[in-house]
Amino acid sequence: MGNFLAGKVIAVTGAGRGIGRAVARAAAAEGARVVVNDYGVSVDGASPTSSVAEAVVKEIEAAGGEAVPVADDVSTMAGGQRIVDVALSSYGRLDGVVCVAGILRERMLFNMSEEEWDPVVATHLKGTFTVFRAAAAVMRQQRTGTLIGFTSGNHQGSVSQANYSAAKGGIISLVRSAALGLHKYGVTANAVAPVARTRMSANVPMELAEIGEPEDVAALVVYLLSERAREQEITGQVYTIAGPKIAVWAQPREVRSAYAEGAAWTPERIAEFLPGSVGVDPMPMLERLAGMERAARDGNRPNA
Ligand SMILES: NC(=O)c1ccc[n+]([C@@H]2O[C@H](COP(=O)([O-])OP(=O)(O)OC[C@H]3O[C@@H](n4cnc5c(N)ncnc54)[C@H](O)[C@@H]3O)[C@@H](O)[C@H]2O)c1
Repeated sequence: MGNFLAGKVIAVTGAGRGIGRAVARAAAAEGARVVVNDYGVSVDGASPTSSVAEAVVKEIEAAGGEAVPVADDVSTMAGGQRIVDVALSSYGRLDGVVCVAGILRERMLFNMSEEEWDPVVATHLKGTFTVFRAAAAVMRQQRTGTLIGFTSGNHQGSVSQANYSAAKGGIISLVRSAALGLHKYGVTANAVAPVARTRMSANVPMELAEIGEPEDVAALVVYLLSERAREQEITGQVYTIAGPKIAVWAQPREVRSAYAEGAAWTPERIAEFLPGSVGVDPMPMLERLAGMERAARDGNRPNA
């Protein structure tokens, strides 16, 4: 056992399986007392069971750690609040929350139903909001705390997961808003875009060139939760961890601008001005897609 998180209380959502489970176990091994939240659902969000969260609490206890289960659904305000309330009633404080819970309902945009859109956005994006909202109120009073959201490289866009991609893009903006709004209270907020072998990534219909284990992702999350990261004033960042690779994503910014002189814009003036002055910022995902389509035509399994 290390002591990266000695004395801290950390709540982890989606902590019953995959990356969340690895985060909960690693946090406990580093000295944290852990709230293990998991609704215990299938990859598409069906058939909840409380046994999944309870099993991880038993694993942590068997390894000599301290943990408490919460089997609530993070997509409800009551669920997010309960995770925070259980941290306070069990351990008296809350130093970090890690929102890992997620589901997938894959469909092309032109076929996607409301039942495929709403629960995916509700689990990922609202499920990060409900926990951040309840935790931020406590951390503001404490004048310290760390919020961590889970995004994906897919926030850049996705062929068949527009619901998931939109939610993951929203999580980045939510994390940056939390970083800005809570800065003066000593609370940091960051996002992690992982690539790791889990039941969810087993569904990806291509070979991932760079992929690691949930434990690699857990190590990054433990660091971000620790005083070592807080001393570096790391906030508002998005990190990818994929096997041996660790990367920081760019902050969104205007890449090129131009100013027109004189009279107001019209479509005709824009048609003349825009292509030669500001142009486009090429979309890397579109180039990658073209490569994948070429590989598929040639009979190879595409790489991502
Ligand atoms: N595995 C990867 O390579 C990868 C890549 C990019 C992003 N992610 C993200 O990382 C996170 C973890 O993914 P994973 O691969 O470990 O998935 P996983 O399916 O193994 O685990 C997700 C867990 O979330 C729980 N959950 C689902 N809905 C919930 C709800 N409403 N309330 C509480 N718990 C709920 C599930 O029961 C499950 O135990 C997700 O947000 C996912 O989108 C994973």
